[in-house]
Amino acid sequence: MLYDKNSPATIEAMFSSIANDYDRVNTITSFGFHKLWNRCLIKAVLKRAKPGVHLDLCCGTGAIGVPLGYKIRKKLTKLHLLDFSKPMLERALHRGLEYGLDPSQLEIHFEDAQTIPLPSNSVDSATIAYGIRNVKNPLLVLQEARRVLKKGGVFAILELTMPTNKAAAYMYKLFLKKGLPALASLVTRNPLAYRYLSSSIQEFIPLSHLELLAESEELKVVQKKRFLMGLASILVLEKG
Ligand SMILES: C[S@@+](CC[C@H](N)C(=O)[O-])C[C@H]1O[C@@H](n2cnc3c(N)ncnc32)[C@H](O)[C@@H]1O
Repeated sequence: MLYDKNSPATIEAMFSSIANDYDRVNTITSFGFHKLWNRCLIKAVLKRAKPGVHLDLCCGTGAIGVPLGYKIRKKLTKLHLLDFSKPMLERALHRGLEYGLDPSQLEIHFEDAQTIPLPSNSVDSATIAYGIRNVKNPLLVLQEARRVLKKGGVFAILELTMPTNKAAAYMYKLFLKKGLPALASLVTRNPLAYRYLSSSIQEFIPLSHLELLAESEELKVVQKKRFLMGLASILVLEKG
């Protein structure tokens, strides 16, 4: 199957096909670094946002939303977990219950991140990790996130990005083209999915462009962080 984000059904099928292995393969292919980046994202949200209602877009197996919700469990009124892959959502729900969150605190949404099924001004904080580059129209995600956030609410984005340094970008492209698919073919049943993931990183708009889009939607950039010369980046936005 050809995976193409202009055809969301193919992306959904791809993620559903790797849901079982996703966390294990992620740890191998990122050499464990994603755990550090995930913790930084959660910390950035907790530093700025009020606890209460959190929304994790493209939640996958719940690797961001659930630990974040757990940290604020005493003040957590609702943790919304949204993804368009059912197998991913099932794992996210299971993770939430395993963490000991109360079922009444959890709500899962089998939806596209471009159409968030929540009322306007209802969410204290939102996250999207390694998700926005897979979405057909990132601007719609920004608009929807802004709509559902309360005034002063925080939207934090974590994404794999290309280094701005030319030599580092060259080396990283080599890794994405040859290294990552080779590594993935050893540890996953769907190496084609990892070819798509490689190309999606290279084709995604630069972080500076995403910042401009966010600011055009009146989401103020309040924090920016790059890891490993820009292999991953965090953008923290606030609704004024
Ligand atoms: C690379 S995974 C990241 C999962 C999780 N955020 C994490 O940090 O491990 C991307 C997830 O986004 C979901 N996804 C991609 N495009 C989506 C869309 N347009 N709407 C909702 N979910 C989407 C996929 O199903 C997948 O679970």
